[in-house]
Amino acid sequence: MNAQELIDTARTLVAGDKGLLAMDESNPTCNKRFARLGIPQTEEARRAYRELIVTTPGLGESISGVILYDETIRQSKKDGTSFIKVITDAGIIPGIKVDAGAKEMAGYPGEKITEGLDGLRGRLAEYSQMGARFAKWRAVITIGDRIPSRGCIEANAQALARYASLCQEVGLVPVVEPEVLMDGEHTLERCCEVTEKVLRTVFDQLYTERVMLEGMILKPNMVLPGLTCPKQEAVDVVADATVKCLLRVVPAAVPGIAFLSGGQSGELASTRLNAMNVRFKSRLPWALAFSFARAIQQPALEIWQGKEFNVLAAQQALYHRAKCNWAARRGEYTAAMEKT
Ligand code: G3H
Repeated sequence: MNAQELIDTARTLVAGDKGLLAMDESNPTCNKRFARLGIPQTEEARRAYRELIVTTPGLGESISGVILYDETIRQSKKDGTSFIKVITDAGIIPGIKVDAGAKEMAGYPGEKITEGLDGLRGRLAEYSQMGARFAKWRAVITIGDRIPSRGCIEANAQALARYASLCQEVGLVPVVEPEVLMDGEHTLERCCEVTEKVLRTVFDQLYTERVMLEGMILKPNMVLPGLTCPKQEAVDVVADATVKCLLRVVPAAVPGIAFLSGGQSGELASTRLNAMNVRFKSRLPWALAFSFARAIQQPALEIWQGKEFNVLAAQQALYHRAKCNWAARRGEYTAAMEKT
């Protein structure tokens, strides 16, 4: 492990008001999103869509790193240029999702444990040789009747910490993603309580596993009421609750926090990120950035529809959403940007 390189990469990922673009949907998830829009669920369609993303002109103005999937990191443009080269030439850092997905957790009905630790050291070494400089592992925590359980939180936190330690060993910056899901009727207060407990456990495990906090990125959920909670809170309430929760548990040594969008619309995700930066940016020890998939990609995917002649318009939509989030990091995002 070269500690300084890890620190430099982690800092670069959140520098210049940029953020991460997650394009690491597994094949089943990508196919599900294609199916909804009538796009063929083939390897070639997935490749063409990812080519559209990585060749978007000017993407590097707002995006510091992209998270790829195992299939995608091995793919190339139609002309044979590898995606890794296209991304690197655009001044963007390539990253890779390395977990094997969240599976039903034995003995814990309704809860999930993320798999993928077996053989991880070898896979990380291969990805690093291919040019990846950071990695991502996602754990999911469900809020419901008497869940999340301590067992589920601890097992997921331990896996995240083992993964993070293995990443740093091979020189990859770990993006640590414990996602408290938005599904459910729970209130914002309940989400805050669960998110705090989960993050406390995660940082406890990261410490136990000797993970260097300066060389990692945290990718948490925003603190939000459940999707079906009757009381949906105002933007400033969400911003305050999220920052308050993070200040309690995220050590100042962590260079950046890059939120997942979790199914929020692109506009709402930008608005909430903007509010946090307007209200708190100058007083926070870490950068508040983004690592969105749906909240950046969705409009582009809907425009593309699998058709070559829609590529340019889809790329413009992708560029626009990325730029909106760059502005949100600066506290300069406005609803008027959506009309341009
Ligand atoms: O792991 C999840 C993705 O990296 C973020 O996806 O922004 O659509 O929640 P999302």
